[in-house]
Amino acid sequence: MKIDGIAYRSVWVDAEDGWSVRIFDQTKLPWELDILRLTNVDQTAHAIKSMQVRGAPLIGAVAAYGVCLALREDASSDAMERDCAMLAATRPTAVNLRWAIERMLARLRNTRPENRVAAAYDEAARICDEDAAQCEAIGRYGADLIAGASAAKGGGRVNVLTHCNAGWLATVDWGTAIAPIYRAHERGIDVHVWVDETRPRNQGAALTAFELGSHGIAHTVIADNAGGHLMQHGQVDLAIVGTDRVTRTGDVANKIGTYLKALAAHDNNVPFWVALPSTTIDWAVSDGVAEIPIEERSAAEVTHLTGRTAAGDLATIQVTAPGSPAANPAFDVTPARLVTGLITERGRCAASAEGLLSLFPERR
Ligand code: MRU
Repeated sequence: MKIDGIAYRSVWVDAEDGWSVRIFDQTKLPWELDILRLTNVDQTAHAIKSMQVRGAPLIGAVAAYGVCLALREDASSDAMERDCAMLAATRPTAVNLRWAIERMLARLRNTRPENRVAAAYDEAARICDEDAAQCEAIGRYGADLIAGASAAKGGGRVNVLTHCNAGWLATVDWGTAIAPIYRAHERGIDVHVWVDETRPRNQGAALTAFELGSHGIAHTVIADNAGGHLMQHGQVDLAIVGTDRVTRTGDVANKIGTYLKALAAHDNNVPFWVALPSTTIDWAVSDGVAEIPIEERSAAEVTHLTGRTAAGDLATIQVTAPGSPAANPAFDVTPARLVTGLITERGRCAASAEGLLSLFPERR
């Protein structure tokens, strides 16, 4: 996707040296466009853990390149297994991370150590290209929903609510939940996005708003608590969110607060769609609430906020009473019964075991 007319992916190999890995530092957006250069596996793990890169598909892709950087230093089997385990432990909820590392290992365990670096870069590039293609397809299948909503309003403006950032910054390109919006916009459909700010880290206010603004798409940032009110007053035509892990039965783990939006959507007959590449499906898990590990992050993300002062400097301020403890579960699980449907690279389906198997029959 483009920033100031220049096309970027969210991760790429440096064109000059041909091996180091480039990412945007998402902790600096929207204030600064800072491109980081990763040169070893520890930097890569830090980038994922500190959320310089975040979003389920992107952390998988970046971890795949982390494996490449690790192998450049030591391509022995012992070191490879150790470094992959370290990368996989950086964030627990998004299953794409584990999926990408397992895919890298499946190829590399069958590759002689002296050939591993080249094989790893090849596999990481494939993961990236496949993710971009999958998200592009999600955009096409999801845009049809927005087109349908527009037609139902006689061509009127379609208001889509989204939570967190499931745009191109969260994937290699296009995004998941935002890809249909980009496609609909390209098709000339009048689309406006309600962007949940997404406390505590504000991925909506900072990243989704940045993406949509850079692309010229109408949007309004709202407090997380505003969605139910807007739905009650007919101001949301549909909700589309991304996800970090979907069970084989269609339960959806996503950024904390998603569940409450799904409840409000259900109560107001607002369609609630979830967009995902198949790399986000955990075929081994049936009960999302009971089985998906939920990341607990630092209380400081709740007690403090970072933003730009009137003087233009970045500042971090405390917003809670001094001494009050804070808790920070980073994800929640929306049960399948609250999900209207899933948008995948193979099309749309019901959020259920049968729905998913109809699109992925090889998993029967
Ligand atoms: O903690 P984050 O910012 O990595 O969480 C991201 C989300 O919850 C996204 O909605 C999800 O990863 C889907 S990304 C296409």
